[in-house]
Amino acid sequence: MTINLVFTVLLFISFQYCSCQTRSEVETVYNTVFTNYSTYFRPIWNQSNPLTVNISFYLIAVNSFDEVEGVISLPGMFGLSWMDERLSWNPASYGNVRYLTVPQTHIWLPYIYLTSPSKGYHHIGDDEYMVKIFPTGMIVWMTGGIIKSTCTPDTTYFPFDTQNCTLTVVVFGYSPDEVRLSATAKVDLQFYVTNAEWELVSSVGYDELTSGTLPMSFAKFDVVIKRRPAYFVISILLPIIFLVLLNPLVYFLPIDSGERMSFCLTVLLSFAVFMTLVDDVMPKSSEPSIAFVSYYLLGTIVLSAFSTIATVFILAAYHKPDDQKVPAFIQCLDLSKNDLHQFTKFEQITIEFTMDTYN
Ligand SMILES: *[C@@H]1O[C@H](CO)[C@@H](O)[C@H](O)[C@H]1NC(C)=O
Ligand SMILES: *[C@@H]1O[C@H](CO)[C@@H](O)[C@H](O)[C@H]1NC(C)=O
Ligand SMILES: *[C@@H]1O[C@H](CO)[C@@H](O)[C@H](O)[C@H]1NC(C)=O
Ligand SMILES: *[C@@H]1O[C@H](CO)[C@@H](O)[C@H](O)[C@H]1NC(C)=O
Repeated sequence: MTINLVFTVLLFISFQYCSCQTRSEVETVYNTVFTNYSTYFRPIWNQSNPLTVNISFYLIAVNSFDEVEGVISLPGMFGLSWMDERLSWNPASYGNVRYLTVPQTHIWLPYIYLTSPSKGYHHIGDDEYMVKIFPTGMIVWMTGGIIKSTCTPDTTYFPFDTQNCTLTVVVFGYSPDEVRLSATAKVDLQFYVTNAEWELVSSVGYDELTSGTLPMSFAKFDVVIKRRPAYFVISILLPIIFLVLLNPLVYFLPIDSGERMSFCLTVLLSFAVFMTLVDDVMPKSSEPSIAFVSYYLLGTIVLSAFSTIATVFILAAYHKPDDQKVPAFIQCLDLSKNDLHQFTKFEQITIEFTMDTYN
């Protein structure tokens, strides 16, 4: 709703001029400037010169960032302006007509394309917008919509990650010798609506000229967003940090209670559950790098698995018949002299249990 409103405001933003022009005057200007006008050719008399198109980006919101698919969805408008040398008139001779507003299909347009759209190549915007023509021949065209671009997610520091997405636009079909894009350095944020999940860190625009076999003139807009981490800290990070404390507690359970095994397995399974939760929000890719939280979870699962294995051996040893000989590898530890102090508390407990069972 808010975004629709903003779009409407944007489309009418440059309409606040004195409208003291009559309809017949506007029609006269229209008929004059559009006689023999062709929408096919660049609007420049000397066709050897490049046409410079100024482009600015109005970011309206960050709709979503899908880190699994690697797609960012940004409602936004591009404001383009250039000089159309065929469409100029002298306001004094035409009853002070200060501007014309015509459907965009009536004039030559530098259609802009996103170089990395998330689906399908189609020029940005629709065919139904209006353009404004000023007496000097300056054209102002606003076009845009929900811009969906691919963006490689970097979840290394999830949930404290920052994503840097670059929107690259290009006028396909024209070389830099014909049409050159010139981007404004500042992304316009006057209509920006904040997002609950992502915080906008910075946004800049710049243009780039590539040479080589296929020279191109690009306009690029970097949008850097940072995740608001509170939700993931509470629902994933803190639980797995505290869950890991449960692991060593298994050795405090009395061996006769018979609960050791189920305790171990429950802890192991809860880590597996958290691993699935984290996997749901992670891209299925190994580049640029795997999230630290995934490595942490892997570590906890390995630890849990080892403590389960240890528990199995302890229980097996505990239930051995009393008259069985102590195996040589335990005897060679030579623990009978009570030098258990060189071991940690947990190892002592484990070893004591083992020794108790055999003696
Ligand atoms: C438009 O083109 C026609 C035919 O080529 C020509 O006769 C006429 O003078 C042109 N009009 C203007 C205003 O250039
Ligand atoms: C068109 O521009 C080129 C390069 O700027 C120049 O060499 C040429 O003389 C121009 N032609 C006309 C007719 O002005
Ligand atoms: C394009 O931008 C330049 C630099 O800001 C400015 O001088 C020029 O008038 C602009 N041209 C148009 C057609 O808006
Ligand atoms: C975002 O990426 C672009 C292109 O890779 C880079 O030039 C720019 O410095 C990056 N911005 C930040 C804030 O990292």
